[in-house]
Amino acid sequence: MAILKIETLGAEVLRRRAHEIQPSGEDPELDRLIEDMFETMYDAHGIGLAAPQVGISRRLIVVHVNEEGEEPFALLNPRIVEAGKAKEKGEEGCLSIPNISAAVERPATVVVEGLDPKGNEVRIEAEGMLARCLQHEIDHLDGILFLDRLSPLKRNMLVKKYRKQES
Ligand code: NI
Repeated sequence: MAILKIETLGAEVLRRRAHEIQPSGEDPELDRLIEDMFETMYDAHGIGLAAPQVGISRRLIVVHVNEEGEEPFALLNPRIVEAGKAKEKGEEGCLSIPNISAAVERPATVVVEGLDPKGNEVRIEAEGMLARCLQHEIDHLDGILFLDRLSPLKRNMLVKKYRKQES
């Protein structure tokens, strides 16, 4: 296993729409990538990580929202098939934008479909932190960052704050 380099704000790969990924049943390369993504996520104390964040423009995410007793899982080609009408605000950060966080409004519940690493269909009915995390990670696959979900004023303020700490 290996800890991968996490791409940060400004990296072009974070702004690209990632390509679909084909599970092949047995794929040692995919298995190793998933292991490395988990290790990278745990090392950075994150609860989710999308492949573009480690420089790989593929539709793959790993998630471990342990506060709700959820098991860790990897999801290929995840998509939101239903979003609840009720919205909820919650604090979010991102491993690609270190030390910056903000309250983001999102649907409180979502239904997500995708494939597990073996290619089996998966359907997840999520609420709370899991729903938020899934939406945040799926956004990454479309080149969207949580900053984009904020008002322009708030976003500019946070980008300035981020640039300041980076310099
Ligand atoms: Ni993120």
